[in-house]
Amino acid sequence: MKILALLGSPRGKKGNTYRLIESALKGAEDAGAEVLFIDITEMDIGYCTGCSTCYSTGSCIQGDDYEEILDLILESDGIILGSPVYINSVTAQLKTLFDRMPDVVHCQMLLGKYGFSVSTAGGGNADIVCDYMNNTLQVMGANTTGDAYAVLAEGDEAFGDACRRSYELGKDLVAAISEKRVYPEQEAFHDGMHERMKNLVLFQKDEWTHEYDYWKEKGWL
Ligand SMILES: Cc1cc2nc3c(=O)[nH]c(=O)nc-3n(C[C@H](O)[C@H](O)[C@H](O)COP(=O)(O)O)c2cc1C
Repeated sequence: MKILALLGSPRGKKGNTYRLIESALKGAEDAGAEVLFIDITEMDIGYCTGCSTCYSTGSCIQGDDYEEILDLILESDGIILGSPVYINSVTAQLKTLFDRMPDVVHCQMLLGKYGFSVSTAGGGNADIVCDYMNNTLQVMGANTTGDAYAVLAEGDEAFGDACRRSYELGKDLVAAISEKRVYPEQEAFHDGMHERMKNLVLFQKDEWTHEYDYWKEKGWL
């Protein structure tokens, strides 16, 4: 079982959010998973230009590190996302990665995968940023198993609690993947996404040929 953690803090391993990622990966590793960490801020990921090429060919024309990251995501059973709160949202680096992934959304490529999110903030809203990251995973098809976040202003003890929670989530992610855990609310969400994306892909079938073929091959049409 492979667990991949993607961190979007420009402070990388020296930052606060990495401490939560590190705990999560330790938990996953202790539960028997193979773990991989990527600091996406060290990768070359350009802005999406909205050219739609990925919809018709399945690949991006930019030739940067995005395809490598996508391959690692698709090879993983579990995905952990981490971002500090930057002006009440994820960092621009992580959002830039998300914006490269509409083809993943349209094709629901993360179906069957599991994940969770971690965040840290100076004053607050790390919960909201975790919700956003988890929603992004769900929109791509994954089930999410929870979140862990810390607000620096709440002190070291609260930070320690968040690290412990992150460790437990790492362990639990491995359990969720092993038992193919079902979340009824998320199943309903996935059903809704399936219908929306099916309508979209059918509507665009003459131009978005890769996505149409993908859906046909899956037997979803
Ligand atoms: C550009 C910038 C924007 C920030 N915006 C917020 C914010 O909106 N709310 C907040 O509570 N903290 C904010 N912070 C504080 C960080 O979220 C906090 O220090 C976090 O732990 C940094 O994580 P890192 O060390 O992993 O990068 C901001 C920090 C920076 C540098």
